Amino acid sequence: MTIESTLFMRAARHQPVERTPVWFMRQAGRVLPEYRAVREKYSLLEICQRPDECTEVTLQPVRRLGVDAAILFADIMHPLVGAGVPLDIVDGVGPVIHAPIRTARDVDTLRPLVPEVDLPYVLTTIRMLKAELGDRTPLIGFAGAPFTLAAYLIEGKASREFLRAKTMMYAAPEIWHELMTRLTDMVIVFLRAQRAAGVDVLQLFDSWVGALSRNDYVRYVQPYTRRIFAELAPLGAPLIHFGVNTATLLDAMTTDGASILGADWRIPLDRAWAVIGYDKGIQGNLDPAVLLGAGNVIEREVNDVLDRAGGRPGHIFNLGHGLLPQTPVAAIEQAIATVRARVLSPAPAASFATAGGR
Ligand code: CP3
Repeated sequence: MTIESTLFMRAARHQPVERTPVWFMRQAGRVLPEYRAVREKYSLLEICQRPDECTEVTLQPVRRLGVDAAILFADIMHPLVGAGVPLDIVDGVGPVIHAPIRTARDVDTLRPLVPEVDLPYVLTTIRMLKAELGDRTPLIGFAGAPFTLAAYLIEGKASREFLRAKTMMYAAPEIWHELMTRLTDMVIVFLRAQRAAGVDVLQLFDSWVGALSRNDYVRYVQPYTRRIFAELAPLGAPLIHFGVNTATLLDAMTTDGASILGADWRIPLDRAWAVIGYDKGIQGNLDPAVLLGAGNVIEREVNDVLDRAGGRPGHIFNLGHGLLPQTPVAAIEQAIATVRARVLSPAPAASFATAGGR
């Protein structure tokens, strides 16, 4: 058994699988009592800086839920801390930037990230995780995408309409482009370092990109996303590009170089996949709120997602966004059991060998 023969990696590489792999964004976190116990002792950023605790909380959902992939425990804002941006992650709010970035001079304070120096504990955690996970469970590394990071840096915290970020885009495009260039450089070196330390898959989280029109995505964001995926492609890891509210952007995002696109629940999975194209993979897309509902509804909605995927190679089951903190563990277990109950075409071992050889 190698990491490449796991269900997750085969699906991520567009090979046939006997059942759909499943993991959940935010699977490591407040839904698990064992995570809350660690959080009583340490803040989120402290956990990220302590390899023992960080390894532990990353493994918790793998142990408890048996998900098909682990995701490195961290936050998208974490590399900014490494690059010297003072910020807090506030309960129930999210990231809060002490001195939001609004001017060319503010942008100039962002220094280049040197992961081995600025975030050595992240790389240590990845090495510890790989030793624990072995060839059984792939490890997903990730970074926030430049737009979402820029949106937080400019607004100071999450926003509904991102008007300050848009104002910079439209009124001071040279400052916008300088900020995006620096963030893009940061994302690339951070993801490269994660890959070198051993992660198997790389996911780019552009959570707030759905605030943009398609034209603005193409003009103000796409060049940076394309550079990220072009520079990461030679690393050989599957590349997942995730955003929320992206139904109108998917056709553009599809040309950016990722091998797998995330879709949220607002667009039916079959429609999203038709836009993305069946030569690429898709990850998603159950509404996280469904897991607050009745058991029969969970089963119905999980099956609907699987029906729409139609057993095609390249589907990774997930939510359309992260688990909500109040989700009952039993609901997550039921969703996983429903995915596992669906057997796809039992491809013979020989065909895996051929597919793996490509
Ligand atoms: O299990 C995993 O998915 C890995 C851990 C992970 C966290 N943040 C830990 C975390 C990941 C992948 C993230 C990414 C992240 N962080 C995103 C992109 C994905 C998405 O959900 O859109 C974004 C936008 C953030 C910024 C952020 N950090 C928000 C909006 C919040 C929630 C604030 C709240 O209290 O509801 C955080 C805090 C955060 N990051 C928590 C966790 C487990 C919860 C708070 C805590 O445990 O202290």
